[in-house]
Amino acid sequence: MRENTDHTIRIGKVAETGQPCEEISPDPCALVIFGASGDLTRKKLMPALFFLFKNKLLSKNFFILGLARTVMDDLSFRADMEKAVKKAGNYDPAVWSEFAERLFYITTGYEKEGFAAAKKLVEEKGKEYATRGNRIFYLATPPSAYEDILEAAASSGLASDSEGWTRVVIEKPYGRDLESARKLEAAVSRRFREEQVFRIDHYLGKDTVQNIMMFRFANSIFEPIWSRHFIDHVQITVSETIGIEKRAAFYEEAGVLRDIFQNHMLQVLSFIAMEPPSVYESELVRNERVKVLRALRPLEDLKEDLVLGQYVEGEFDGRHARGYTEEEGVARDSAVPTFAAMRAYIDNWRWQGVPFYLRSGKRLKSRFTQITIQFKKVPHLMFGNVLSEEIGPNALIMRIQPDERIQLSFNAKNPGSRVCLRDVVMDFPYLAGYEGLVLDAYERVLMDCMTGDKMLFVRSDGMELSWKWLAPALEYSERADPGRPDLYLYRAGSHGPIEAERFMAQDGRSWVNYDK
Ligand code: BG6
Repeated sequence: MRENTDHTIRIGKVAETGQPCEEISPDPCALVIFGASGDLTRKKLMPALFFLFKNKLLSKNFFILGLARTVMDDLSFRADMEKAVKKAGNYDPAVWSEFAERLFYITTGYEKEGFAAAKKLVEEKGKEYATRGNRIFYLATPPSAYEDILEAAASSGLASDSEGWTRVVIEKPYGRDLESARKLEAAVSRRFREEQVFRIDHYLGKDTVQNIMMFRFANSIFEPIWSRHFIDHVQITVSETIGIEKRAAFYEEAGVLRDIFQNHMLQVLSFIAMEPPSVYESELVRNERVKVLRALRPLEDLKEDLVLGQYVEGEFDGRHARGYTEEEGVARDSAVPTFAAMRAYIDNWRWQGVPFYLRSGKRLKSRFTQITIQFKKVPHLMFGNVLSEEIGPNALIMRIQPDERIQLSFNAKNPGSRVCLRDVVMDFPYLAGYEGLVLDAYERVLMDCMTGDKMLFVRSDGMELSWKWLAPALEYSERADPGRPDLYLYRAGSHGPIEAERFMAQDGRSWVNYDK
């Protein structure tokens, strides 16, 4: 998968300097997956767990119990998961047979009997695998089932933490608005303490997202210029080439604002804008991230600050791509936005007056998640008498994915007899000089959950604040006639609607793209 050259496990060893890093050792535990026959388990969880197992990054005292409606037994579940792991790559038959022994399955529609059987199995296997009573409950079902499952897991005694610890992992979407998120929150907190709840936003598990903190706070040269005094504006783009795949039912309910902005986008923004905590410790880091969300300026003038779009048919790599309303399961007259561009402000001392331009869409020209910090122009044009062109501002680009790297662009003299400038780039490929394993987002968050480290999970107050801030945009984007906002169409395979370019141009700025 993402192993570097030598395949040895040296998480966090830097090749040249050999700087030691923190060792991570997950606790023994039983992992109970609700929705074990679904896509998330197949595509993300099982490949991630197998990868961790293969690389000896899980405790030996560990097993998995899958629960779902699909009729299967242990053997057919193992066969199904084997296929999924093979498909994801990284398969190894010898390791697989060792791993597969630890997989168990119960067919259940989440009724009483199912929970009783699960409790019995977890207790028995818990003894066999010496998991010390530790349990993780992973909700990989549609969100509509969350409340019932949590309630039944608690009342059946399956989620008891009398012996070891019990943790609950909740996947997005965490509600569909502030009200439903609060309702779910109330159901969760009736049965579980906040310290037991791990709300996943897989963007937080991306190495390059965590690296924003290291870049900002482990260097003395960037932080002094990381403010309104030097920064003109910030751009965050989550550009996707995929459409909605087979998730029409979900996407028709969600749209890009719920799918990307409420979670991934705001989490990335909080890393970029947060203050440094005094110590690198989960709650202190999460406090700072939440403070950013609290400081977001309420969205008021959405006609000015938000551009919504939807893809129509177009072309990808020379192939025809359908429009959103032609996708299977999508209403022919659907007005759900698949693209949004937004102007946001953070009302605090550091960021006053600095616009944050946020943009995301499906079926765009290229896949990239990128942060651009655009610095201010030089205050005085000393070269005005010898140079005809304008001097471009410096920019720092943090590419979160793919081709992870940090680039700083600046002006230099063009070699030669004439006085003229050129744009040059200092370039740091993220994996340069590193020889160990690289964990993907799910591998990372699963490990953190087993270690009990909540730094990369969303806290209840942060989750509520992000829904609260986004609420006016959701209300605006879903208005019926009259007052319905314009929905600008864009061709599949483009960079989005032309109005998103105009939106930037009217501020005298332009989007920075990545076109490889
Ligand atoms: C998910 C969204 O949370 O993130 C998907 O539901 C989106 O619609 C995905 O495609 C993007 O994740 P990544 O890691 O591929 O950028």
